[in-house]
Amino acid sequence: MKGIILHGGAGTRLRPLTYSGPKQLIPVANKPVSQYVLEDLRSCGIKDIAIVLGETFPELVKEHYGNGEKFGVRITYIYQGKPLGIAHAVSLCRDFVGDSEFIVYLGDNILQHGIKAHFERFLSEGYDAMVLLKEVEDPTRFGVAQFDAKRRLIRLVEKPKEPPSNYALVGVYFLKPVIFDAIKDLKPSWRGELEITDALQMLIERGFNVGYDFVKGWWFDTGKKDDILTVNARILDERITGCIKGALENSRVEGRVEIGEGTRVINSLIRGPSIIGEKCTIRNSYIGPYTSIGNGTSVVDSSIEYSVVMENVSISGVDGLDECLIGRCARIVKAEGNRKAVKLHLSDYSEVIL
Ligand code: G1P
Repeated sequence: MKGIILHGGAGTRLRPLTYSGPKQLIPVANKPVSQYVLEDLRSCGIKDIAIVLGETFPELVKEHYGNGEKFGVRITYIYQGKPLGIAHAVSLCRDFVGDSEFIVYLGDNILQHGIKAHFERFLSEGYDAMVLLKEVEDPTRFGVAQFDAKRRLIRLVEKPKEPPSNYALVGVYFLKPVIFDAIKDLKPSWRGELEITDALQMLIERGFNVGYDFVKGWWFDTGKKDDILTVNARILDERITGCIKGALENSRVEGRVEIGEGTRVINSLIRGPSIIGEKCTIRNSYIGPYTSIGNGTSVVDSSIEYSVVMENVSISGVDGLDECLIGRCARIVKAEGNRKAVKLHLSDYSEVIL
């Protein structure tokens, strides 16, 4: 059994962060989204993993995952280049997959309970392919499933204007090599991509046994800032243990908080669930619930809550930061003196809400 993580895509809805890295490396609870994907595959016993790279900083992905040894897996890198679709990315993995069954997992998807139970179902039912479904409010953003009266899967359609149900396709696909034959016969969709949804639809039409399983618990496709913040909050809520390695000086911690080695917290209040990385300085500040602070960041005379702050950020003299997603090495400081001036130095597509 092999695993494929799709790590391409332009990530336009996450600009400007995706001008300096792929969206799947954005951290939630101080860990890149695609690392949750890798760990989920590993929890199914899958050690042979291909990562399909896109055009957005593929070298950063290789730098993070290396040959996989650090993560207990073997990684093969496959270059897709231009975003020509999920099915196109899968077709590039033909040799990697060989005759084995395999799982394709979109590198920006996170499932609360992971995929292990679904994986076991796929193995025991002997399906030719199996998809995961989740009821959503706005199915037009996703691939959507249609059932007959006996709840059999009869159609899969990509981003329909008039959805046949509220059941969206989650970005995890359990497949057998027969999918490669279907992909060969695909034509690009209206968005110019080879859609995995269309390839699966072709399998249904050709009489193959395409099964489905419902996802219980939450699932997110972390394509937007709000999704990142929500997943960050959920993961902090459910997985933070409360291990404090750094030094607390005249400070208070409430609830479950993780503080990394070499971090100093001085005259501050940290409210959990939150995580603060290594070698940070937190001084005269309040770090509220549902906040992740990356390594090497300093927060001085400031307050922040419900946010993701990446590495080596400097925040000083700023009160009331809330629902922020802040990229590496950003600097947010109060101007000298009492002037009310707001001085900005922002990259394209930055957003400031005052
Ligand atoms: C892709 C799939 C879609 C699926 C979604 C899940 O959409 O094409 O069927 O529901 O992932 O995240 P995309 O992210 O390419 O818009």
